[in-house]
Amino acid sequence: MNIRKLIVGIAVAAFSLTAFAQQPIVIKFSHVVANDTPKGHAAEYFKKKAEELTGGKVKVEVYANSTLYKDKEEMEALQLGAVQMLAPSLAKFGPLGVKEFEVFDLPYIFDNYDELHKITQGPAGRALLDKLEAKGVKGLAYWDNGFKSFSANKPLRNPEDFKGLKMRIQSSKVLESQMRALGSLPQVMAFSEVYQALQTGVVDGTENPISNLYTQKMHEVQKHLTLSEHGYLGYAVITNKKFWDGLPADIRAKLEEAMKQATTYANQIAKAENDKALDAVKAAGKTQVYTPTAQERMALKKALIKTHTDMESRIGKDLIQSIYKETGFDPAKL
Ligand code: LMR
Repeated sequence: MNIRKLIVGIAVAAFSLTAFAQQPIVIKFSHVVANDTPKGHAAEYFKKKAEELTGGKVKVEVYANSTLYKDKEEMEALQLGAVQMLAPSLAKFGPLGVKEFEVFDLPYIFDNYDELHKITQGPAGRALLDKLEAKGVKGLAYWDNGFKSFSANKPLRNPEDFKGLKMRIQSSKVLESQMRALGSLPQVMAFSEVYQALQTGVVDGTENPISNLYTQKMHEVQKHLTLSEHGYLGYAVITNKKFWDGLPADIRAKLEEAMKQATTYANQIAKAENDKALDAVKAAGKTQVYTPTAQERMALKKALIKTHTDMESRIGKDLIQSIYKETGFDPAKL
């Protein structure tokens, strides 16, 4: 090879290396809900902040509404590195082998967002996220959605009203136990399939925060909605640990900052987004919205509280007790 060819060769190689180095790092962020939800907005906010703070060195591609993967598949895709970020609901970590997250599904364990934040924004929440590392997953943050309500095609006022109903649930043993405590037949199903299952009568009813109910148009196929607020639904934002640990330290720090800002935003908008969705459900006029009386609430609570003891062996009595201690919840007082 003559010297001129060698120089040209080196120049071409150097150019390609620089071009390669300038390629942005792509984060595929997949989720299953609509854009116009607390999680949908927070994912877009994270994208904006991550791209701004890294000066375009990171590009975040958000795939909403199960367009890329459904519930179970997205967990597998993250572990395989096909996507880099997800925010599955806390009820979906059992199949990954970290069943302690199902503590968040216990009915009535949190009365409001303030009680919940004592856990999700404190050391107990962090300790749970750290458990994911053994699965090759890094937990970055908790994002709120809200408190769930029951829906069906018949009024749901008393525990007896639930008997024999096929109720769609997320993949959580606690939710299974909760539905069985009411005499319902729980059916695990991917979120993307719920609307059709309700429409065709494969299931009779379900539970979700109103933002999910409304944006999936479930209110069009559910005649009755009871504002039971019997349990919490929120998210853990997670990434592939190998991907995260392999990022240049300065980029990782900027992404951590973007995640911090997105988390503050997510938790600020969650309640308002659900209130807005409730107004929209009422305005649509297809669903009768019912607010339970104090007695009805108590009857539901009494019927559901046995889930706490039934699930002790799965989740860990100590974990449940430590949450009671933080929030002041006392099942004996019911
Ligand atoms: C559900 O499956 O009902 C929810 O987890 C969906 C979600 O991500 O909010």
